[in-house]
Amino acid sequence: MRSMDYADPKKKSNIVGKILMAATLTAMCILMLKQSPNFSSPSHFSHHEPGVVHVLVTGGAGYIGSHATLRLLKDSYRVTVVDNLSRGNLGAIKVLQQLFPEPGRLQFIYADLGDAKAVHKIFSENAFDAVMHFAAVAYVGESTLDPLKYYHNITSNTLVVLEAMAAHGVKTLIYSSTCATYGEPEKMPITEVTPQLPINPYGKAKKMAEDIILDFHKNSDMAVMILRYFNVIGSEPEGRLGEAPRPELREHGRISGACFDAARGIISGLKVRGTDYKTPDGTCIRDYIDVTDLVDAHVKALEKAKPRHVGIYNVGTGRGRSVKEFVEACKKATGVPIKVDFLPRRPGDYAEVYSDPTKIRNELNWTAKHTDLQKSLQIAWRWQKVHLNGYGTPQVMSA
Ligand SMILES: NC(=O)c1ccc[n+]([C@@H]2O[C@H](COP(=O)([O-])OP(=O)(O)OC[C@H]3O[C@@H](n4cnc5c(N)ncnc54)[C@H](O)[C@@H]3O)[C@@H](O)[C@H]2O)c1
Ligand SMILES: *[C@@H]1O[C@H](CO)[C@@H](O)[C@H](O)[C@H]1NC(C)=O
Ligand SMILES: *[C@@H]1O[C@H](CO)[C@@H](O)[C@H](O)[C@H]1NC(C)=O
Ligand SMILES: *[C@@H]1O[C@H](CO)[C@@H](O)[C@H](O)[C@H]1NC(C)=O
Repeated sequence: MRSMDYADPKKKSNIVGKILMAATLTAMCILMLKQSPNFSSPSHFSHHEPGVVHVLVTGGAGYIGSHATLRLLKDSYRVTVVDNLSRGNLGAIKVLQQLFPEPGRLQFIYADLGDAKAVHKIFSENAFDAVMHFAAVAYVGESTLDPLKYYHNITSNTLVVLEAMAAHGVKTLIYSSTCATYGEPEKMPITEVTPQLPINPYGKAKKMAEDIILDFHKNSDMAVMILRYFNVIGSEPEGRLGEAPRPELREHGRISGACFDAARGIISGLKVRGTDYKTPDGTCIRDYIDVTDLVDAHVKALEKAKPRHVGIYNVGTGRGRSVKEFVEACKKATGVPIKVDFLPRRPGDYAEVYSDPTKIRNELNWTAKHTDLQKSLQIAWRWQKVHLNGYGTPQVMSA
């Protein structure tokens, strides 16, 4: 079992659950093996090949990770995705495998990054040149309800990945961080030297992971790029991938998800919380970055990563958009007259957050190109409309 691998499920008292889980995983494993053209030639992944850069993408079945994988494959990288599908979608992996069926292009490994033994085994059996570490749990609201899940799945798992990289001599890391590590800065826009004072477990867990990476880096010859994303929206323009979070995460969801759910009629409308902020229209201001631009920043970061060097970059448009503007763009993009309720403020929200993207433009020659909110939402909506079930059984919206 080379191209598929899975970790022992965590100790659970429920035997029946365990058996069911094992059966499901075995079935899935067989299914994937049957469909995986790579299975017959694992050597592509286990040896370095001149001219081929092999990237480990953790969390590659998730929203951003799957988009990054597509871009890397298009740019002729070799990709191994590791994901435990706790939040990602096997359907996204299938789409990618169908697009790049040639041997040695894409490999999927089912494993939990919390399982250090499994991770070390993956690193010993594969010859990675670089790691893009996306895997994480990523909802601010959930992080305040279940902080340990965040410190475990973000901070502790990053440590596991770093230890495996050190042990197996993998020298380039591109790390997914977030503007949530800045907390509530007094001065806008946010630059990379704005003090990091995170105010929720999500931001704190990411900040701690950054600190671990930076400390480790001081005495190593690793090339590190830390990208702090602002609010990610959109999907791939050709409509093959989209954002499909688990239904149970909807309540913690992000504004674009809520907008699409409202347009679909799953929820009765949008609730805008807070209209008395000190902003031009009274609603909160955020910086929305299109996922296509975001993955472009990752590829540029990978190309420019240098041994013994750390690059830390904000990835945003540099332009703040109010929630009211977002809602208007959403109405136009979906063509649905979404009902909007204006409610009092929600505790913990800050008025204004937007990036100063000067550093990444100067050093990586990257700028956001997909900055038309309505267009980004329109592209994402096109995918949502024909994937009402996410990556599950196809279901198309009528009318
Ligand atoms: N979406 C945003 O707006 C945003 C903003 C800033 C930063 N980020 C960061 O970007 C990264 C990707 O976010 P996303 O929006 O694509 O989230 P996502 O939930 O869609 O993807 C995360 C993926 O990681 C996998 N995963 C989680 N824990 C794992 C584990 N222990 N072992 C193996 N796989 C595991 C999940 O199954 C999922 O496929 C995260 O690190 C997140 O913190 C996202
Ligand atoms: C995914 O990993 C987490 C640990 O980070 C684990 O608790 C969870 O059970 C795993 N999910 C699956 C489906 O294996
Ligand atoms: C890690 O996150 C997954 C969900 O993505 C969850 O099932 C698991 O319990 C978390 N692990 C821990 C140790 O909290
Ligand atoms: C910067 O990127 C643009 C495309 O966005 C390209 O035309 C230009 O040549 C690049 N400049 C450098 C110095 O690489």
